Amino acid sequence: MKDLEHLSADEWDEIRSPRPETTDFDRVVERALSRRGFMKGVLAFGSGAAVMGSGLLTSTSARAQEAANFAFEGIPIQTDGTVHVPDGYDWQVLARWGDPLFSDAEPFDPETGITLASSDRVFGENTDGMETFTVDGRQLIAVNHEYANVSTNLPWKGDNAFTADDVTILQNIQGVTVMEVAEGADGWEVVVDSPYNRRIHHNTPMTIAGPAAGHDMLKTEDDPTGTMALGTMNNCGSGKTPWGTYLTCEENFNGYFGVADPEIEFSASEGFARYGIGAEGRYGYELHQARFDVRQTPNEPHRFGWIVEIDPADPESTPVKRTALGRFKHENAAAVIASDGHVVVYLGDDERGEYLYKYVSTGTWAEGQPTEGLLDDGQLYAARFDDDGTGEWVALTPEATGMDEGMILIHTRMAASAVGATTMDRPEWVATNPVTPQGYVALTNNRNRGIKANAGGDPTPVNGPNPREANNYGQIARWMPDDGNHSATGFTWDLYVMAGNPIVGQGDYVGSENVTEGNLFNSPDGMAFDTTGTLWIQTDGDDSNEGPFTGMGNNQMLAGDPATGEIRRFLTGPKGSEVTGLAWSEDLRTMFVGIQHPSAPFPDGADSLPRSAVVTVRRADGEPVG
Ligand code: FEO
Ligand code: CA
Ligand code: CA
Repeated sequence: MKDLEHLSADEWDEIRSPRPETTDFDRVVERALSRRGFMKGVLAFGSGAAVMGSGLLTSTSARAQEAANFAFEGIPIQTDGTVHVPDGYDWQVLARWGDPLFSDAEPFDPETGITLASSDRVFGENTDGMETFTVDGRQLIAVNHEYANVSTNLPWKGDNAFTADDVTILQNIQGVTVMEVAEGADGWEVVVDSPYNRRIHHNTPMTIAGPAAGHDMLKTEDDPTGTMALGTMNNCGSGKTPWGTYLTCEENFNGYFGVADPEIEFSASEGFARYGIGAEGRYGYELHQARFDVRQTPNEPHRFGWIVEIDPADPESTPVKRTALGRFKHENAAAVIASDGHVVVYLGDDERGEYLYKYVSTGTWAEGQPTEGLLDDGQLYAARFDDDGTGEWVALTPEATGMDEGMILIHTRMAASAVGATTMDRPEWVATNPVTPQGYVALTNNRNRGIKANAGGDPTPVNGPNPREANNYGQIARWMPDDGNHSATGFTWDLYVMAGNPIVGQGDYVGSENVTEGNLFNSPDGMAFDTTGTLWIQTDGDDSNEGPFTGMGNNQMLAGDPATGEIRRFLTGPKGSEVTGLAWSEDLRTMFVGIQHPSAPFPDGADSLPRSAVVTVRRADGEPVG
């Protein structure tokens, strides 16, 4: 077994909460039928077949002729320890873990990292989703710090048990940073001591709002009202509301909880089991703070797994957990105003065989109107994809689920199971096309597809948008809402790309036609559209460059043309890293890109601990990059 410290969150869950095998005959038959229908109707792999039922992808030669709108030449894979971008572009480090946000922070020590006293005065660890905001003419960035790497963040620890101070350091370096940045002659820099600079971490007070606020399952001894939580955790992807606030997304929150005394028998409730909450925490929180010991404070885990809204323009504001958007392992939050004025937020639940969701506000919004209630009063839906290329957003109502509204929002996974939503291959980021009404979801991979049930015991047969058994490479599915209206319940869908490997793959492991030897990748994860309608795709996959992953190199960022299907490699990250998080400066001349968990000594060389970092990418000629 891999050492526990280096397990990804999904590997951790798989080991601690193994999923039931699904080998019964009915499910095998169901899987076969599902695949046959899908292959006939929508997609076929290999040579000559188009990916998309809509016919948007044509032949390779036609694609090459149409694909003139990338301003760069694709770059080769890399296996080294740094960042690469195309000719005509340059990159620089903007902020790395331990860089000061405030001048009272002690300098980062390349061997030991940061001190307890400075741990909440610096840029946090493991940068992930981020969004940019312009406030009073200043450029602000809100950035997530998803999780901690104990061997990097507490390098003096060895095998010693966590102390209370260790736990506090870990809690302080995760969460969210809001910071002001400015572009000078030497590139972009953090504006140290800006009044907008702020660290939000695992102990920052926040409000719980929306229909589940005050629910009995959210009440604890410290908060008998069920409306005030401490902290936001495992902040993964991001979102931005049309009215200029930041949405941070609580993903693998389960790993922070455990029981302090493992000698006493502990059996997980149904809700804990579905969400992967068990007896063993990853960071020792439960040993020092009773709220993380689920035997002492069984409702505390229910206060995480939400979307949190933060106002970057007001450093004194209290972040708000928006319960109307459901509770699961939230990846990101893609907010868009539908053509009828409703606020729609698309949401993925990143676990094998979990679901894709959307929230539609009851009220409508237009520029300058009040925003009160828009993320508190609305309807949550789960996606059902049918193999004929259509689909439906199924409302998670008490009638449809047999659950009351509070329970639908707190145990959203069970509600989606109850309505027969489509099990997905780990929904990561959703992005909406600004040019035409479309949503895209990165389905990163799912080695259990067609093999094991999800955490709730729902079978996960091969199905329409998840057509590959034991899916190592992932795919990007997209949907076109009926009438071009994101608030509609009906849609049509197709696959934008099936990642694959035409060098070593066979059968459905070759990938779709828009995967070539020049743009190989696996495990799409981060995604964002720029203003021109180019889809930027970031990967978090196997970077061994061996076996099935031969020719894929380090994790990377690619650009995709929604119309032609062409995909071109733009950036490669350092060894061991995932490329995640993408935003643009107000003038669009700078792209901010996140480099998370490098194993190479990035960016300061072999004499330093590796440091996750946000980098800037600009064109040498000063033209926009998005
Ligand atoms: Fe934090 Fe699913 O990535
Ligand atoms: Ca991710
Ligand atoms: Ca991922």
